[in-house]
Amino acid sequence: MRGIVLAGGSGTRLSPLTKITSKQLLPVYDKPMVFYPLNTLLRAGIKDILIIVSPEHPGDFLKLLGSGKEFGAKFTYEIQDKPEGLAQAFIIAKDFIGDDNVAMILGDNIFEDDFSKVIKKFKKGGHIFAKKVSDPERFGVVKFGKKGRAIQIEEKPKKFLSDYAITGLYIYDNRVVEVAKKLKPSLRGELEITDLHNWYLNKGELKVDIVKGLWIDAGTFDSLAKATQWALRQDSGQAMRRGK
Ligand code: TTP
Repeated sequence: MRGIVLAGGSGTRLSPLTKITSKQLLPVYDKPMVFYPLNTLLRAGIKDILIIVSPEHPGDFLKLLGSGKEFGAKFTYEIQDKPEGLAQAFIIAKDFIGDDNVAMILGDNIFEDDFSKVIKKFKKGGHIFAKKVSDPERFGVVKFGKKGRAIQIEEKPKKFLSDYAITGLYIYDNRVVEVAKKLKPSLRGELEITDLHNWYLNKGELKVDIVKGLWIDAGTFDSLAKATQWALRQDSGQAMRRGK
């Protein structure tokens, strides 16, 4: 299994902070945001990781993360010239993925859960993760049927579909590269990850699990503040356990 951290994008919702740096380099308490999703992959045993960044910030990411040696891993870097959608990452990552399966995480997503077991067990198809939220219209949304199986997936639905948002960790088998290459841009001009989910869903090969612990998409001021408070609580919890 290979890993991708997708850390490009424009970060307009965090402007003016993102006028001078990348969203994923902003601090979440005592660490840059990207450390959290990177750690989710590392903790799951993924050691070969591609970091995709925008053309404005490759030097900053390289300076921060380097070769990966410090993390016991190997990091590779690619540039996404324009933010043309999450699914484009699989086209950019084609050579890096080679014949392997791949787990992609968004550079602004913070998870508490440990995905080691799922990632180690993964063989074929697609496996994504959902979480009940109060503002599903901000996300890709999944509707579950009576037996708890995913039956419909839509990107930012205008009409209420379900309150389960699809989180930013996606595990796919190797076919994802070819499927991504065939996608057409949506009306907003992006290659949509939702179209990839739907390709696997239509084949009956998409598994959707519920995220148990905290999940934060830290791309807005409110969610960034929430993430910082969570990280601070974690830190003081650990300090208490250490008897400080
Ligand atoms: P978003 O938060 O949807 O987009 P954004 O980062 O451009 O922010 P804003 O909407 O405030 O302008 O993106 C989710 C994650 O995916 C984030 O980590 C950035 C990344 N991303 C890319 O790397 N390339 C892309 O083409 C897109 C759309 C997002």
